[in-house]
This record gives sequence, C-alpha cells and structure tokens, in this order.
Amino acid sequence: MKAKQLLVLAALVSFLIQCAAAQRNTLNSSTERSALRRLRSSLGLRAWDWPIKADPCRNWTGIECRDGQVTAISVSGLRRSRVGRMNPRFAVDALANLTLLETFNASRFLLPGSIPEWFGYGLPGLRVLDLRSCALNGAVPSSLGRLSRLKYLYLSDNSLTGNIASSLGQLNELLVLDLSRNFLTGSIPASFSMMSNLFTLDLSSNFISGTIPAGLGSVSSLKVLNLSDNSLTASIPGELGNLSQLIELDLSKNSFSGALPVELGGLKSLKGIRIGSNGLEGQLPKGFFSGLAQLEVVVLSENKLDGRIPGEVWSLPGLRLIDISANNFTGELPTNGFNGNVTQAIFNFSDNMLYGNLNSSIRFFNLTDLSWNYFQGKVSNDSWRNATLDRNCLQALPDQRSLADCWLFYSERGLQFDDFEASGPTDPPFPVSASKKNRRWVYILIGVFGGLALIIVMAVILVLLLTKCCSKGIPDQRGIADEGVAPDGDGQMVPKEPSELSGLGDVFSYEQLAHVTSEFSESNLIKHGHSGDLYRGILENGTIVVIKRVDLHSFDRESYTRELEIFGKISHTRFVPLLGHCFEHEHEKLLVYKYMPNGDLASSFYRATDLEDESLQSLDWITRLKIAIGAAEALSYLHHECYPPLVHRDVQVGSILLDDKFEVRVGSLSEVRAQDEDSHGNVITRLLRKPQILVG
Ligand SMILES: *[C@@H]1O[C@H](CO)[C@@H](O)[C@H](O)[C@H]1NC(C)=O
Ligand SMILES: *[C@@H]1O[C@H](CO)[C@@H](O)[C@H](O)[C@H]1NC(C)=O
Ligand SMILES: *[C@@H]1O[C@H](CO)[C@@H](O)[C@H](O)[C@H]1NC(C)=O
Ligand SMILES: *[C@@H]1O[C@H](CO)[C@@H](O)[C@H](O)[C@H]1NC(C)=O
Ligand SMILES: *[C@@H]1O[C@H](CO)[C@@H](O)[C@H](O)[C@H]1NC(C)=O
Ligand SMILES: *[C@@H]1O[C@H](CO)[C@@H](O)[C@H](O)[C@H]1NC(C)=O
Ligand SMILES: *[C@@H]1O[C@H](CO)[C@@H](O)[C@H](O)[C@H]1NC(C)=O
Ligand SMILES: *[C@@H]1O[C@H](CO)[C@@H](O)[C@H](O)[C@H]1NC(C)=O
Ligand SMILES: *[C@@H]1O[C@H](CO)[C@@H](O)[C@H](O)[C@H]1NC(C)=O
Ligand SMILES: *[C@@H]1O[C@H](CO)[C@@H](O)[C@H](O)[C@H]1NC(C)=O
Ligand SMILES: *[C@@H]1O[C@H](CO)[C@@H](O)[C@H](O)[C@H]1NC(C)=O
Ligand SMILES: *[C@@H]1O[C@H](CO)[C@@H](O)[C@H](O)[C@H]1NC(C)=O
Repeated sequence: MKAKQLLVLAALVSFLIQCAAAQRNTLNSSTERSALRRLRSSLGLRAWDWPIKADPCRNWTGIECRDGQVTAISVSGLRRSRVGRMNPRFAVDALANLTLLETFNASRFLLPGSIPEWFGYGLPGLRVLDLRSCALNGAVPSSLGRLSRLKYLYLSDNSLTGNIASSLGQLNELLVLDLSRNFLTGSIPASFSMMSNLFTLDLSSNFISGTIPAGLGSVSSLKVLNLSDNSLTASIPGELGNLSQLIELDLSKNSFSGALPVELGGLKSLKGIRIGSNGLEGQLPKGFFSGLAQLEVVVLSENKLDGRIPGEVWSLPGLRLIDISANNFTGELPTNGFNGNVTQAIFNFSDNMLYGNLNSSIRFFNLTDLSWNYFQGKVSNDSWRNATLDRNCLQALPDQRSLADCWLFYSERGLQFDDFEASGPTDPPFPVSASKKNRRWVYILIGVFGGLALIIVMAVILVLLLTKCCSKGIPDQRGIADEGVAPDGDGQMVPKEPSELSGLGDVFSYEQLAHVTSEFSESNLIKHGHSGDLYRGILENGTIVVIKRVDLHSFDRESYTRELEIFGKISHTRFVPLLGHCFEHEHEKLLVYKYMPNGDLASSFYRATDLEDESLQSLDWITRLKIAIGAAEALSYLHHECYPPLVHRDVQVGSILLDDKFEVRVGSLSEVRAQDEDSHGNVITRLLRKPQILVG
C-alpha cells in the first residue's frame, strides 16, 4: 500500500519537473525568435534542421536555451538549402540580438568571409567560439581580445592572414587558443604570457616567424604547446622548462638553432617532445631524460645533434616511440640496461653515425630502424626480424654500405673495423705464430748468413769493379736495374714489360680497374706519388686495393720498370703484395696492390684505441718491436737473400706499411736498386738516416 502511494507521488513529481523543463525550454523572447529566423535565412539552413513553425529551443538542431533564451548555437554538421548553397557568406549579424549566447559552433560549416569586427563587442557573453574549417579569410580581428569570458577559441584550418593580434593576450579566462593551419604571419605576441589559464596553445602550420617569447614560460597552466611547422628561429628559450604541467611540446619543422636547452629536462609531466626538422646542434644535455619519467614519445629527427644517446633513454618506463633519425649521433648501442616497457617501443635510429657490433638486446624490441649507420659484424637476420639494418657495415647482409665508406668511417675515428672479414682469406697475412717460432732461427740465420753475405757482397763488388774496368762498352746482363731500361736519349720509347710475369699477379682489364676506382675519380685518389698516382678501389670480391696509375708521359718510366723487375724477383711476405697489373694501354700502366689497413708507420704511431676515450695513444712497445723486427727482416732479405743483393734506398716511415695485424709490408719498391748501383757509404747512411723511426 505504502509502496503504491510512493510510486504515484514519484510519477507526479517527475511530470511536474518535465513540465517546468518544457516551459523553460520554450523560446519566449520575440526578439530572439526573429533573430533566429534572420539567422536561419542568412545562413540558408534547411527546414529539416530548423523547422520554421516549431519552437527553436525544442525542435531546432543545435540550439540550446536557458530560461527561454538561446545560449548555444551549433550549425556544425548542418547543411544549407539549395538556395542557401548558392551564395554562402559569413552572415551572422542576427547573433548580436541573442544576448545570452555563450557558444557559437560552426566548425566545418562553410562561412566564406572574414570574422566581423563587431564579434568582439557584440557577443559579451561568448565562452566558446568554434570556427574550425569554415573557409574564413582575412585577419583575426583584434576586438576578439575584448571577449573577456572566452574560454575556447578555435580558428584552425582556415585561410586567415595577417599578424596575430596581441590583444588576444588579454583573454585571461582562455583555456584553448587554436590558430593552427592558417596563413598567419608576424611573431608570437609577448602578451601571450598573460594568459594565465591557458592550457592549449596551438599555432602550428602558419608562417609565424621570430622567436618564442621567453614569457611563454610563465604560462604555468600550459599543457599543450604546438608551434610546429612555422618559421620560428633562434634558440629555444630555457624558460619553457618552467612549464611544469606541460604534456605535449611540439616545436618540429621550424628553424630553431643552438642546443636543446638543459632546462627542458625539468618538464616533469611531459609525455611527448617533438623537435624534429630543425637546426638544433650539439649534444643532448647529460641526464636530460632522467627527469622526464612520463615520456612516451621523443622525436628529434632531422637535426644536427651529435654526441652519444643518453643512457637514461633505455629505462624510460612509458616509452613508445623514439625517433632520432637523421642526426649525427654516434657511439655504440648498450647491450643491456633496458627496463620498463621499452621492448614495446619503436626505435628509429636511422641515418646517424652509430657503430660497433650489434649484439645489443635492442633486437628484441617491437620495431627498430637502424639503417644508414655504421654497425659492423655479423648478425643473424632471424633475431633481427623486426629491424631494418640496411646501409650499415654488416657482414653477409644485402644492401650494405661500400667497404670504402665503412673503412673510412672506422679509420677516421681510429676504431677497429672487421673489414667484412673479407681481406683475411684472400691474402693470409704473415702468420704470427709461425713467425714467432721462426724468428729465433731468422736471427741466427741473419747472423750467420749476414756475415757470409757481407763477405760475398764485398767479393761481388770487387769482381764488379774488375769487370767494369775490363769490359767497357759491353752491355751488362746481370744487374736487374739494367734489364729493359731503354738506352739514354730515347725518352719516348715505351719500356718493355718483363717477359716473366709470374711475380706480377693477376691480369686485370682496364675497364675493370677504371670501374672499381669510379673512373679514377678524385674522391678515390690517395695521393700523387713520385712514381705514379695512387687510387683506392674495391674489387668485386670485396678486397680493398690500391691502384697505381703510371702515365708514362709524365712519370719516370725507369722507376716503373724497376718496380716491375723487383716484383718479378722478390717473393717475400715482408713486402707489399702486388695483386695484379694491367698493361693494356701503351702509355698508361696500372699496378694493383693489396691495401694496407693500418697505413704507414707515420700514421700508425699514434692512434685512438679506446672507444670511450678519444685521446690518442701511442703504439705499444710489443707492436713497435714487432715492426722493428719486421722491417729488419725485409731489409735483411733484400741485402742478403736476393741475388744480386738489393738496396731499398727509401727506408722511411712512409714506406714501412702495416697490414691489419701490424705486420710490416715494405712499400716504395720503385726505389729499390741493385746494390752495386749505390755506393756503399750511401747504403749505410740511408739505412741509418731515420733510426728514430722505430723508437718513435
Ligand atoms: C518538437 O519536439 C517535441 C519533443 O521535443 C515533439 O514532441 C514535437 O512533436 C516536436 N514538434 C515538431 C513540430 O516537430
Ligand atoms: C520567458 O520565460 C522565463 C522563464 O520561464 C520568464 O522568467 C520570462 O519572464 C519570460 N519572458 C517573457 C517575455 O515571457
Ligand atoms: C538586433 O540587434 C541590432 C544590432 O545590435 C539592433 O540594431 C536591433 O535593434 C536589434 N533588434 C531587436 C529587435 O532588438
Ligand atoms: C563543435 O561541434 C563539433 C561537431 O558537433 C564538435 O565536434 C566540436 O567539439 C564542437 N566544438 C566545441 C568547442 O565544443
Ligand atoms: C601539432 O600540429 C601539427 C599540425 O597542425 C600536427 O600535425 C601535430 O600532430 C600537432 N602535434 C601534437 C603533439 O598534437
Ligand atoms: C623560469 O626559468 C628561468 C630560467 O629558465 C628562471 O630564471 C625563472 O626563475 C623561472 N621562473 C619561474 C616563475 O619559475
Ligand atoms: C655530421 O658531422 C659531419 C662531420 O663529422 C658533418 O660533415 C655533417 O655535415 C654532419 N651532418 C649533419 C646532419 O649535421
Ligand atoms: C625512420 O626515419 C626515417 C627518416 O628520418 C624514415 O625514412 C624511416 O621510414 C623511419 N623508419 C621507421 C621504421 O619509421
Ligand atoms: C608497463 O606498461 C603498463 C601499461 O602500459 C604499466 O601498467 C606498467 O606499469 C609498465 N611497466 C613498467 C615497468 O613501467
Ligand atoms: C608494435 O608496434 C606497432 C606499431 O608499429 C603496434 O601496433 C603494435 O601493437 C606493437 N606491438 C607490440 C607487441 O608492442
Ligand atoms: C659483442 O660482440 C663483440 C664482438 O663480436 C664482443 O667482443 C663482445 O663481447 C660482445 N658483447 C656481448 C655483451 O656479447
Ligand atoms: C616483432 O614484433 C612482433 C609484434 O609486432 C612481436 O610479436 C615479435 O615478437 C617481434 N619479433 C622479435 C624478434 O622481437
């Protein structure tokens, strides 16, 4: 019984409430009614949406009323009648008669024309003005600064031009200011620093120039700051680091320069930082990310940033995307220290100068782009399923950088490069273990035969002097220096190639060698030597070679012939290996040598060995001793094992070359002469000329 009474009472109350609401929601002001009708006709709205006979407050789409007066109008999503479509204009004068109007939303409703000046003083109660994508043009009237109750101002995606009125800074109730995607010019008014309640400022995709006013850092309520895609310049003010509530910072696609201010590390609420496509340079401040624990998105791509990737990045718990592509970051990837949810994240490290072996656990991550770096070593394609590894220095993967690029990168930084592991097998370097065993014997033999050889040399010289005296005019058949040398006075005659080509390696075609040196391009030129120009090249099998190009018109053909002779005669691991030759052209001869990754003694004495510490370190003493012994072995071979004995004549730091294992490979063989061509005193002085080379 009691329950029934209650139910009836409740029904009665709800009926009364509905009646009151209906009453309130009926437009009872004739001024407003006629204003709405004028608006209806000036905008050309359809009877379907705004039926003329029905009550606007109850039956017109997008109209909201309070106490019988209109408070909100939204024509967003409405369509014009056929007549209305014929001449769409920004014709909303009737709004001025709706004294309680708080919201006008016309987003995506075409209103070609400019915002009338009277908007600023004719709509004093306006709180929301949404004119996104309305095909507006003209300037933003400065009178809008008088809409003191305005909270939301959306004018994005129009064709607005002119400067941003500084009067907008007076809107201190404003929460959202969105002027993005227009044609606005000029600079950001300093007065914006007074908008003390603003939480979104979006000026993106305009033509705004100048700098970011430092005062913007005092708008402490700011949560979203989007200034991307403008023409802003100078450095990013450190004051932005005061925006402790900031969640999104987008400054991409501008012309900011200078370093990333260390103060931004204090944006402790920040979830997204996007500063891609600017001119930022320098290193990321140390510990930059350690205060940014909320970070989810980091985009710093297409800048000129360098230095190392700060280690804290790997432990950001919420990281979803980090894109630092197209910068100059360097260093190696860490092998561990990843925690949080970073394995879900997308890493784009493409187009930097990262290097080292790829045994990092980054391979377990969702998506990783490591292309266009200098990573080396072997990776199994399987464990890197989600990674892009193109254009690195990785072994056995397609689409890698050229050996020359890789080599240059690693050698410029004094780093150890694995050479694609290609150079090893093609020409086994002097075997270290064997040499150790043999070395003792070598010394003994040098001792024994050195003495013997000296006696023999003396004897030979004696004999030589005697024969020279005795047989003037008779062509000398013995000395290698004399073979194939054209008689004096016949400078144009092309020297004959030695008939015995066994020591001269493979035969290459001219095209082949021109191809591997990019037609002997300047970029592959190592130096203009005194016996020919030296070029770097890479054979099809990956071997790096040095190609000497001897133009017989301009180079001493004698030294060229001598060099061929020497290579025909000597076969010893202590000399730079001749891999091949090309004698196709009459006046242009090509010799192909094995490339020596550690350069000559001069360039190897001091080198950066420690990857972390860039300072130069000198060669260790064990290696120096090894080099000294190697050089001695080479000279000993020339002097004592060749017949007739040879003199190098140009022993200096530049002609002692070092292979990948720092084994000596003596070069500059065009200087080698038969000993009898050089006076004995000369030999001694030349040998001792630079004794300091081996003690550094
Ligand atoms: C106006 O809307 C009310 C309900 O809100 C409805 O009962 C009434 O039929 C509508 N009138 C017209 C003319 O559509
Ligand atoms: C309109 O309705 C409101 C509330 O129902 C009332 O206060 C006001 O006096 C009415 N105005 C007119 C002109 O009827
Ligand atoms: C409507 O507003 C305009 C401009 O504010 C004014 O001139 C006109 O008198 C108003 N109409 C009515 C009926 O109040
Ligand atoms: C304006 O209307 C559109 C469409 O109904 C809506 O998405 C948008 O949020 C409205 N604008 C404001 C500021 O409420
Ligand atoms: C900033 O604005 C641009 C263009 O208007 C937009 O593409 C980008 O998503 C915005 N950034 C953020 C973080 O919302
Ligand atoms: C804003 O940051 C600057 C330096 O970046 C500092 O000097 C200033 O005191 C900060 N202002 C406030 C209100 O925190
Ligand atoms: C990276 O640094 C090199 C010099 O180390 C410089 O030549 C190059 O222009 C830099 N690249 C960028 C994108 O800054
Ligand atoms: C990484 O960035 C480069 C350009 O900076 C882009 O071309 C590439 O598609 C990006 N990779 C991924 C996986 O998004
Ligand atoms: C990983 O992400 C989930 C949800 O995204 C979150 O709840 C969890 O705390 C995160 N883990 C760590 C270690 O941050
Ligand atoms: C991997 O990244 C893609 C976006 O590229 C995302 O849709 C997907 O959910 C991620 N997967 C995992 C396991 O995180
Ligand atoms: C990574 O690879 C290099 C060379 O392959 C090796 O020296 C190093 O120990 C490896 N590091 C780890 C953590 O496996
Ligand atoms: C590649 O990503 C998918 C999700 O996108 C994930 O399920 C898979 O484990 C990843 N593969 C590797 C090797 O990490």
